Amino acid sequence: MENTQAVPAKKIMLSGIQPSGDLHLGNYLGAVKNWTELTDEFDCYYFMADLHSITVRQNPAELRRRTVNQLAQYIACGIDPEKNTLFIQSHVHEHAELGWILNCYTMFGELSRMTQFKDKSAKNAENINGGLFTYPSLMAADILLYQADFIPVGEDQKQHCELTRDIAVRFNNIYGETFKVPEPYISKVGARIMSLGNPTSKMSKSDPNGCVFLMDKPDDIARKFKRAVTDSDTENCVHYDVSNKPGVSNLMSIYSSVTGKTFDEIEKEFDGQGYGVFKPAVGDAVIEMLRPIREESERILADKAYLKDVYTQGAQKASAMARRTLRKVYKRVGFVEKPF
Ligand code: TRP
Repeated sequence: MENTQAVPAKKIMLSGIQPSGDLHLGNYLGAVKNWTELTDEFDCYYFMADLHSITVRQNPAELRRRTVNQLAQYIACGIDPEKNTLFIQSHVHEHAELGWILNCYTMFGELSRMTQFKDKSAKNAENINGGLFTYPSLMAADILLYQADFIPVGEDQKQHCELTRDIAVRFNNIYGETFKVPEPYISKVGARIMSLGNPTSKMSKSDPNGCVFLMDKPDDIARKFKRAVTDSDTENCVHYDVSNKPGVSNLMSIYSSVTGKTFDEIEKEFDGQGYGVFKPAVGDAVIEMLRPIREESERILADKAYLKDVYTQGAQKASAMARRTLRKVYKRVGFVEKPF
């Protein structure tokens, strides 16, 4: 039955995803796979954060393509659009509007301390624009518009979540309870997947040889695993030891996430068999796990009408919620009520 109560029964979980490139195994095993398990417990909102993306220069056609591709890939990974609200940030204009307002309640000093701003301005020295600087106020708006309870974020976004809480508390203190103060959601530890070529750094799309993309073909996946760096110890034995055997340990984490086997079970399974057997076995397990995801992504991407339907309905549902919060905020700060 439809729940017609004004207060949602489930707690609200929300996350934005930058449409910055194709999803890879690290994104999937580390985050997206866990999100599929949140569906029943929470009311989940996921959006493609295109407003955030233009803080660094984008090719317009590419940005458009990646936004839609990424949406298709999330659905293929099991984020069911019937049960989750999936939308594109720029389709819900309240994000930009609340973002502006929150800029006026966020301090220059606070924004100056954000490590992501410092990192990104070092990397984009020729384009340190205002949007890059005020990015955290927009992110706060993304979260506070939906009165979200939880934000499932990784280490790199913790500081932004803290700032969001500070902004919410500050606003509530001035005007009375307006925003729910969100909590970071520490999920069941997703596997931290490292680069296959350089197992001491995180798997990243900027290192394509060490990175397995969800859309990679089986041959490419097999090749990447065959070439995976294993350790230069003389043991040639499958054993978990992150500091001395980072390469083999990373492959074991991957194999464990894919098959559900424990490290002990994996050590026994490959006892006496060496890396030459282990590496292709991990590759095969990954190929079989990704095959249905890739095929489903391709099927969904070919069905443009379906995708449009998903993001249309998502934006409509998101707008209804966002509008309510923004109306309250406009009233609180003293704007004249809109007559039409
Ligand atoms: N800043 C996040 C990132 O770079 C993306 C993001 C934008 C986000 N708005 C958000 C994440 C709101 C969580 C909640 O990954």
